[in-house]
Amino acid sequence: MNKLQKYIKRRPIGIFDSGIGGLTVAKSLFNILPNENVIYLGDTARLPYGAKSKETVILYSIENLKFLLAKKVKMIVVACNTASSVAVPFLQKITKLPVIGVIIPGAKASVEYTKNGKIGVIGTLGTIRSKAYRNEIKKVNKEIDVYSQPCSLFVQLAEDGWTDNKIAELTAKEYLNGLKEIGIDTLILGCTHYPILKNTISKVMGKNIKLIDSGEETAKEVKRILEKSELLNTGKKKGDHKFFVTDFPNNFKIISERFLGKKLKEVKKIKL
Ligand code: DGL
Repeated sequence: MNKLQKYIKRRPIGIFDSGIGGLTVAKSLFNILPNENVIYLGDTARLPYGAKSKETVILYSIENLKFLLAKKVKMIVVACNTASSVAVPFLQKITKLPVIGVIIPGAKASVEYTKNGKIGVIGTLGTIRSKAYRNEIKKVNKEIDVYSQPCSLFVQLAEDGWTDNKIAELTAKEYLNGLKEIGIDTLILGCTHYPILKNTISKVMGKNIKLIDSGEETAKEVKRILEKSELLNTGKKKGDHKFFVTDFPNNFKIISERFLGKKLKEVKKIKL
């Protein structure tokens, strides 16, 4: 391996989200690839993306991408489901580096798992409206039936830490009872925040329904891509993780514990 190859391998993975939720994806990435350097950008000044138009989300995503490119990343992960569902092809036109979103890995995993061919998808309004999960599932297997449900309130519940109380359970019942009655056997958690509510969602849906964490599946896909393109950081040192936000770094630090399992010490505010 020559010096240049070594240098490229050590370059960070860039990951962006509309805010804090993408830390669930980052957490999966840190677990699977502990030696990788990572730069995380949360666009906290402009969240939520889930209620914005496709055009606006694409525009914001391009700005996020440009920030990460300037940091000399070796690949880009779009952690935000809403951004992944509409912006990835546009981002791929801007850079030759690998750009992946969370939709395809989540959709593929759900197809592999389902036995009865009935898959549920939950996400923000933007993600559900885009039909991105449905389209990817149908590309793999046209016969599968896909049932979707936006669950906007889950985002706020996760951020406020109301994940295992009565309100969370009632909200989950209201959103999910329809999917339960249809008899899906697989449910895609199509939003960065929903893994935080896994226990409550599982309680409402029942133990036999498989919950697919798109972030976890994406982390596995990142590893496969880096291996295949010989970009995996083979160094022994633990990876360096840097965090940037566009607003309110202190709040991000406080909530980070719930999403990452540890409180972040340093979060820098930047202007895009
Ligand atoms: N990160 C978003 C997603 O995964 C949820 C929060 C938002 O709407 O910005 O879709």
